[in-house]
Amino acid sequence: MTGTGQDSATARSRALMLRAQLEHHNYQYYVLDAPEISDAEYDVLLRELQTLEAAYPELADPNSPTKRVGGAVAQGFTSRRHRQRMFSLDNALSLDEWRAFLERLARVLPERDFTFWADPKFDGLALEVIYEDGRFVSALTRGDGETGEDVTDNIRTVRNLPLDITARAAKARLPVPKLLEVRGEVVITKADFHALNDAQDEAGGKVFANPRNAAAGSVRQLDSRITASRPLKFFAYGIGQTEWPLGDPWPTQRALMEGLAAFGFQTAKQGRAVDAAGVEALYAELEEGRDKLPFEIDGMVVKLDRLDWQREAGFTARAPRWAIAWKFAPHQAETVLERIDIQVGRTGVLTPVAILTPVQLAGVTVSRATLHNEDEIRAKNLHEGDTVVVQRAGDVIPEVVRSVPEKRPEGAREFVFPHICPSCGSKAERLSGEAAWRCLNISCPAVLRQAIVFFVSKAGLDIEGVGKRWIEILVDKGMVKSPADLFGLTMDDLMKLDRMGEKLAGNFLAAIEQARLNTPLFKLIGALGIRQVGAQTARTLAGAFADLDALSEATAEDLQALPDIGPEVAASIRAFFGNPANHELLARFKSIGLWPRKAVAETDGDAPKPFAGKRFLFTGALSGMTRSQAEAEVERLGGVVSGSVSKKLNFLVVGQDPGSKLDKARTLGVRVISQDDFERLTRGETVSSE
Ligand code: IVH
Repeated sequence: MTGTGQDSATARSRALMLRAQLEHHNYQYYVLDAPEISDAEYDVLLRELQTLEAAYPELADPNSPTKRVGGAVAQGFTSRRHRQRMFSLDNALSLDEWRAFLERLARVLPERDFTFWADPKFDGLALEVIYEDGRFVSALTRGDGETGEDVTDNIRTVRNLPLDITARAAKARLPVPKLLEVRGEVVITKADFHALNDAQDEAGGKVFANPRNAAAGSVRQLDSRITASRPLKFFAYGIGQTEWPLGDPWPTQRALMEGLAAFGFQTAKQGRAVDAAGVEALYAELEEGRDKLPFEIDGMVVKLDRLDWQREAGFTARAPRWAIAWKFAPHQAETVLERIDIQVGRTGVLTPVAILTPVQLAGVTVSRATLHNEDEIRAKNLHEGDTVVVQRAGDVIPEVVRSVPEKRPEGAREFVFPHICPSCGSKAERLSGEAAWRCLNISCPAVLRQAIVFFVSKAGLDIEGVGKRWIEILVDKGMVKSPADLFGLTMDDLMKLDRMGEKLAGNFLAAIEQARLNTPLFKLIGALGIRQVGAQTARTLAGAFADLDALSEATAEDLQALPDIGPEVAASIRAFFGNPANHELLARFKSIGLWPRKAVAETDGDAPKPFAGKRFLFTGALSGMTRSQAEAEVERLGGVVSGSVSKKLNFLVVGQDPGSKLDKARTLGVRVISQDDFERLTRGETVSSE
């Protein structure tokens, strides 16, 4: 008995009842848009469940509705293979191309009457959600189709996604699949997107270019509480691998879509089973109505309805032969190309940017568009002053399609691409085989500015609270000439800036200090902005080298021995560390103590190893430290982090809301300790048994 005055069995059955009710109301609210109770009534149920779960930790369940708010914080995402590859789709860009698809299909599968399933092509992020015995177990992004990123903790917070389909299956008299992989798209509706951007703008946060970027960015947050705060929706459009207890009940795409809807998944209302003529009619209907749909779509996807025929038609290397994405023509408009500006990026590339008379395109004001490079401008024969056709490709990134020469004003100048850097005036170079002109001056102010902005950005050290605008001001005033200068800034320095307040300056310095002390090696490597070294490669490097000294000494062979690092990337890394200016930068990082080391035992050989021979495992959320930090601490002290609970485990460290590992540890008699106890152990103190 505990404070809630129930015995454990009563508590369990009450919790199960509450979860079923909350799941039902969630479905009514988020999927059907037909709530049966008020928000306040919902909160009462939710709070009762939270109280129960807090009082009876053994009731913990990762899929409890209380977990929709997020909590887990990841260091990064692990890659996992899809059981079945997630293919992409071939496109049809016109009626003719759609009909050509039909003809190809008729050759592959001769003499049949085709029925198709056609539904909107969502413009979001492709995702696979996996259920075992009816319970949500994991979620993977599409990735490269073969492997995706494990975003389970984040996706659990998506409100319209069922976490348990067993109750609805029973109601619909459907068997519960042993394995069900559901594929679909994570989107943010247009209305939610605008509200989100307004809120972000108000709070001084990142404003997203379009709903798709907002959805993708939200799914890839390391802190699942942030994902939980974003209005994500999952729309199901297909399946991956399935295992049924009694045989597959779904012979057609239509049957599986209806089955998924019965299980509680949201599907597009516009989806329909139609013949070829019906496909064309639905296309016209969708194109006509697209702007009125609540979410962005960029076409229609047409799939052969019979799944046995799908299997018979099979796949090309890239895409299924039995499906096609029939895209809408992009939104286009005419406007005036007022002038072409040249921007200098952090790698010195000079990028021409079209400055346009603002024009509305599919509800978005477009006033700039990248022109990519010199050749592109020449190929499109663009003159400053020209009337040009602009479009949003995939209705996302605006681009200049062509000029309208008939409307060229007299005296319009042909654009001459500058071969000097507009920022520092040094001679730009066009390296052989490249389309881009580059400023190669490593102390070019524009290059430095971008490199420093990148250094603090999300893709870099992610120094929160140090906005891009302030960094630009510091660089422009000459107060910061290198990323290392950031760490020498003082209160006095910052207070010299217009509109800087003491509170902001304090936050600014605190954020920089945090970064100095806590930046992990992979983040620092990524922040250096080495060409061709993105987040994934930075992780690989951080896993293989003890610190930046070790990395800078690595030979091309050492580097190429690592996964996914080819000769080009290796050469780029070598070139970076071969540059004396970069050496100096690293020496400064080291002297100020921004010097993360890989947290493995052998990197500090002399340190005492009180955990030697001991196996640790963590369950539940830790406070004040991430799981990875705790694990690194174990390794630093000579211990080993186990993959699962077994008799060999010495300590199970239990945080908040522990998972099933706790039950298992108790059954096996493994020693269970709290986070406080764990921290005592790391300080060399002793702790008593549970
Ligand atoms: S079916 C074998 N249906 O389009 C592939 N895909 O170009 C079957 N997409 O990344 C995919 N809406 O995420 C299908 N109604 C829909 C879709 C859809 C959007 C995306 C999908 C994929 C991309 C393929």
